[in-house]
Amino acid sequence: MKTVIEPFRIKMVEPIQFSNRSQREQRLQAAGLNLFRLKAEDVIIDLLTDSGTGAMSAEAWAALMRGDESYAGARSWYRFERAVQEIFGFPQVIPTHQGRAAERLFASVMVRSGLVVPNNTHFDTTRANIEAVGGRAVDLPCADARDLALEVPFKGDMDISALEHLIANVGADRIPVILLTVTNNSGGGQPVSMANIRAVSKLAHIHRIPFYIDACRFAENAYFIQQQEAGYDAMSVREIVQEMFNYADGCLMSAKKDAFANIGGFLCTRDEQLAEEWRRLLILTEGFPTYGGLAGRDLEAIAVGLQEVLDEDYLRYRIRSTQYVADQLHKIGIPTVRPAGGHAVYIDARRFLPHIEPLQYPGQSLAVELYLEAGIRSVEVGTVMFGRDAHTGIESPAKWDLLRLAIPRRVYTRSHMDYVIEAIAQIWQRRESICGLKIVSEPPYLRHFSARFDWIPVSG
Ligand code: F0G
Repeated sequence: MKTVIEPFRIKMVEPIQFSNRSQREQRLQAAGLNLFRLKAEDVIIDLLTDSGTGAMSAEAWAALMRGDESYAGARSWYRFERAVQEIFGFPQVIPTHQGRAAERLFASVMVRSGLVVPNNTHFDTTRANIEAVGGRAVDLPCADARDLALEVPFKGDMDISALEHLIANVGADRIPVILLTVTNNSGGGQPVSMANIRAVSKLAHIHRIPFYIDACRFAENAYFIQQQEAGYDAMSVREIVQEMFNYADGCLMSAKKDAFANIGGFLCTRDEQLAEEWRRLLILTEGFPTYGGLAGRDLEAIAVGLQEVLDEDYLRYRIRSTQYVADQLHKIGIPTVRPAGGHAVYIDARRFLPHIEPLQYPGQSLAVELYLEAGIRSVEVGTVMFGRDAHTGIESPAKWDLLRLAIPRRVYTRSHMDYVIEAIAQIWQRRESICGLKIVSEPPYLRHFSARFDWIPVSG
C-alpha cells in the first residue's frame, strides 16, 4: 500500500471552536497583531509550535498514574534516568522543567563574557541564554542552507570550513563548546547528516573543545539519516541515535518535542565534575537533582515518550505528513523551504510578499493574514524574532523571513492540513493586497513573544 496512515486510533477528542473573520479581526487587534497574545480557544488550527502540544499515548497517560511524587529518589526518576541513559548513552542526566532551563544551566557554567559558541543555527532561547551571560552565539549553517529553494538533503549541516576558520580566528580557548541542533529548527527544520556530526565532533576533539547536541528533534533527524544517508538504510533508528550521540560529549533536550511530553527537558554529559556544578545550580532554581522542577508523573511520561518516538511506523507517518503539506504548497507555486523538514513547513515570506520590506516584517504580516483568513496560528521566524541585536540594540533584517507552520505530533489529521493548504492558497491569490507592519512596542529581548504591531497602510 502506498497510502501512509496514522499508526494510531483516536480515543479522546478536543472540540475546536470556529469563528468568523470579523471576530478574528477584533481579537487580533486586541492582541496587538501578535499571535502569541491570542487566547488559544480563539484559534481553529494551532501551528504556533510543536512544543508541548503533542498527543500522549494511552501508555503515557497510564504512566502518569504511576508517578512517584517523592521529593528525593523517586521511582519515576530512576525510570526516567534509565530511559535517557539507554537511548542517549550519557552517564550523567540532569532533569529540567524544559529545554531553556537546561540551556540556562549549560550557559551559566560553560559560557562567560568574551567567549564564542558556534552552532549550525541557534534557536532563539539558546542564543538568548548564551548572550545573557555575555557570550557570542555564532551561526554557521552550511552553504546549501543559504538557498532556501535548493532540493538537497541535510541542509541542517554545519559549515565545517567556517567552523575551522572560526577556531583559527577566535582561538580554541575562547570557544567553550560547539553546539549542533538536530534538526535545525531555526534553519528550516532541516536534518543534519551523520557525516556532519562526525566531522564536527572530530574537529571539536582535535581542539579539545566539548561538543554538545541540542537534541530536541533527535528521532526525526535519525529517521532522515536512515532514509537519505548512504550506509544507514539497514540500521534501526535506535542504532542511528546511539551513533549520533556517541560522537558527542553531552546533549541538551526539550522533552516537549520528540518525547511527546507537555513539559520537561534534560541535560546530559560524560563529565562528572560539570554535572556536579549543574546540579548545584539546579537545586538553586529548578529543584532537587532527582526531579529538577518536574513532577514524578512528568518524568514517567517522558520515559515512555522517548521510547515511543523511536517507533519507525510513527516516524514514517510523521515525516510523510509534514512532507505532504510542504509538497502541496510547492505544487501551487508557493515558495517554501525545500525539501520538507521534519516538524514544520516553512514559507519563504520574503518571496511570498516581495513588496514588503524586511523591516516591515513580511513573515509577521503573513502570520496575521493566515489567522484572519482561517483562524490558523503560525509563527514568524525572521526579522521580528532575530532582527534586534541584543548587544548593540540595532535593528537590521534577519537572514531570512520565514513563516513556520509547526505541526504538533499526532494531533491533526490530513483534512485539518487540507484546510491549512486551502487557506494559504487563497492568500497567495491576493498577496499583492497584503500590507507590512510596524512595531508599536517591544521588550528589550525575545521581543517576538510580546511586541505589539500595527499595519502600515499601502500608500497610493
Ligand atoms: N532548542 C530548540 C532547537 C528548540 O526548538 C527549542 C524550543 C528549545 C531549544 C527550547 O526548549 O521550549 O522546552 O524551553 N522550541 C520551541 C519551538 C519553543 O516552538 O520551536 P523549551
